[in-house]
Amino acid sequence: MFIDTHCHINDEKLYENRDEIIKRAKANGVGKMIVVGWDLKSSKIAVDIANEYDGVYAAVGFHPENLEEISDNALKEIELLCRNTKVVAIGEIGLDYHWFKESDHRAKQKEWFIKQINLANKLNLPVSIHARDASEDTFKILKDYPVAKGCVLHCYSGSLEMAMQFQKLNVFFGFDGPITFKNAENPRNCVRNLPSTKLLSETDCPYMTPVPFRGKDNKPEYIPLIVSKMAELKGLSLEEMERVIEENCFNLYGI
Ligand code: NI
Repeated sequence: MFIDTHCHINDEKLYENRDEIIKRAKANGVGKMIVVGWDLKSSKIAVDIANEYDGVYAAVGFHPENLEEISDNALKEIELLCRNTKVVAIGEIGLDYHWFKESDHRAKQKEWFIKQINLANKLNLPVSIHARDASEDTFKILKDYPVAKGCVLHCYSGSLEMAMQFQKLNVFFGFDGPITFKNAENPRNCVRNLPSTKLLSETDCPYMTPVPFRGKDNKPEYIPLIVSKMAELKGLSLEEMERVIEENCFNLYGI
């Protein structure tokens, strides 16, 4: 089966039509989907959707762009959500230096990234990481605060050189629509050069829509387009790529 390891069906653009979206994904062979939160409210909705559907799971946490309401109490609530067996990871958490240039905000991002890694380790969960223009600090933090159950750099957009460094820390790499974009040689190069056993497929929907649907909302049903591009880059058949990703997903998330 195909797997969407990172989607936002909890986004208001998709939530209303979730029934249709999940049905169409399954009809296209996408048997598992992980709905990822970015703050407390979206994490709760992710868990609700996971409870509603077979094959749908949730990740919960605070994204670095959404730290306005973060507090120790809010993190306690995230911890309570993890009691639900459909919650398979803490995420998405990490560092975003693209949108935030101020050192105060970056310090706050680092502080809560580390606190959420500590929470994942306490709960024995893997971590889904958002890292944008912040490869070096992300690397430092993962080196100093390793995630025992493993982690994925979702929508990997760093350099191949950094990917090779991260690989030594035993991280997985998620790839999405950009590998189908004409001008995105960097992520394609990363897919070509990273071991197949470290690759995961994801849509990050409603964003990052793959070719030929760019300009429309992205949906998990487009995952086969991404996996088939990955298969082409790795010189594998679609079935082989599908199976490797299934194993990788099991190795990281236990699903
Ligand atoms: Ni995302």
